[in-house]
Amino acid sequence: MGSKHHAPSKSFSSKFLSFRCSTILTLFMLFTSFFLFLSPLRHIREHIFFAEQSRFNGDLRDAKFPWNKLCFGPTFEKLKLAVFSKTWPVGAAPGGMERHASTLYHALAARGHEVHVFTVPSDRKPHHDLHEDNLHVYFAANDHGSVNISLAFDIFHKVDANGAFDYVHTESVSLPYWRAKLVPNVAVTWHGIWYEIMHSKLFQELLSNPDGKLPGPMIDLKEAMPKLIDEIRFFRSYKQHICISKSAGEDLVNVYQLPPRNVHVILNGVDEAAFMKDPVAGLRFRRKYGVPANVSIVMGVAGRLVRDKGHPLLFEAFSSIANQHPGLFLLVAGSGPWGRRYSQLGPNVKVLGALEPSELSNFYNALDVFVNPTLRPQGLDLTLIEAMHCGKPVLTPNYPSIVGTVVVDEGFGYTFSPNVKSLLEALESVIRDGSDVLQRKGMACKEYALSMFTAIKMASAYERFFLCMKNTIFCQYPLPTDC
Ligand SMILES: *[C@@H]1O[C@H](CO)[C@@H](O)[C@H](O)[C@H]1NC(C)=O
Ligand SMILES: *[C@@H]1O[C@H](CO)[C@@H](O)[C@H](O)[C@H]1NC(C)=O
Repeated sequence: MGSKHHAPSKSFSSKFLSFRCSTILTLFMLFTSFFLFLSPLRHIREHIFFAEQSRFNGDLRDAKFPWNKLCFGPTFEKLKLAVFSKTWPVGAAPGGMERHASTLYHALAARGHEVHVFTVPSDRKPHHDLHEDNLHVYFAANDHGSVNISLAFDIFHKVDANGAFDYVHTESVSLPYWRAKLVPNVAVTWHGIWYEIMHSKLFQELLSNPDGKLPGPMIDLKEAMPKLIDEIRFFRSYKQHICISKSAGEDLVNVYQLPPRNVHVILNGVDEAAFMKDPVAGLRFRRKYGVPANVSIVMGVAGRLVRDKGHPLLFEAFSSIANQHPGLFLLVAGSGPWGRRYSQLGPNVKVLGALEPSELSNFYNALDVFVNPTLRPQGLDLTLIEAMHCGKPVLTPNYPSIVGTVVVDEGFGYTFSPNVKSLLEALESVIRDGSDVLQRKGMACKEYALSMFTAIKMASAYERFFLCMKNTIFCQYPLPTDC
């Protein structure tokens, strides 16, 4: 009896099932073609999103998003600015921080502002002061080659006596807090805060001691909390705070308890003329360094080859995935202890050593995807931004500073938790996507980088910030002169 009754219901359900399957299939195909057909709309949606931000109307000090998103018009008002910076680039291969300072202050001086920088040469050797049009760089070193703040202030007061500075800017603690307390018109840019550094110490501990077999946490971790408390206390000595990611801005308000109106987000930009998409240069670079023509995906990593830049992580993941995917190739630019280990990984890895700055753009162009496995969530790594300008998608850890500000959309690349398993999964996605999808993502990166991370956007945001600090009329947005 049961079987009699079951038979029709079974065939009904199988019919139903096949009906459902075909419906689902049809719907799926419909949706797929719909999506493929309409996917250009996604771009439009992103533009609407940007447009919404540029329709912001009000006091800039209330903006919760990066000032770079806005479009500031020209100004006739000229500023006299004092800048404290730990170093100033002299000679070849400047680090990220020096490159940033040099890009920003050259750009502000080129816009007609008088910029006086108090600093020391990056090579720690004696140099004459630099005076190029509106940009004046004073070297005030002590015996160890770092900034002698008393000496710097002697010069500062002399220049100030010739016409008062409108505003003072310090890159991190280049102007120490006990000195900043005495300077009412001071803004500090934080390139990394201890709250984020604690985050990275945590990851480094978990990675280097996954099973807790080593006795006790590393010494840094034990010292981290007191350092954070110390930092929260002394940050109040600075009046205005600029940070370089949305998440750092949120930390300064929520954890450091700074007044939201004194916390602003201005993202770093790079010279977009120095980092451009150039497939021909990319191919030439590949040939020059002997990348086989038959590889399917070229990945690249750049920077100092040290532990806290995440090289143990990439090394382990790459050595385990390269066997299964012989078409994968890794270019390693930079020098450091991990260089030798990479070079022993076999024919699918090429270690290039440190590249000349002029070669860096060609390097990015030679890649299908740029990898930055860093274990340091603080700051914004300029290399990610440079690679994006060259039209390359990025593969990088999912830190708040990165997913909130750089890889804000899956269309820009791949993110992972800083452990080998998660990185392997992300690498599998890269391989599954293949070079066509990577190319498409790279174009989206380029478009986003141009809308957010250019030297001009950064300089015009800083210009407007200092104008707003000098005269609150400039805090209004938009002004009739704004675009
Ligand atoms: C710093 O400069 C002052 C002069 O302004 C000088 O007296 C002092 O010895 C210098 N300190 C160091 C450590 O070089
Ligand atoms: C590429 O070509 C070389 C030499 O012909 C060969 O040994 C290698 O296996 C090839 N690699 C791939 C990924 O096909």
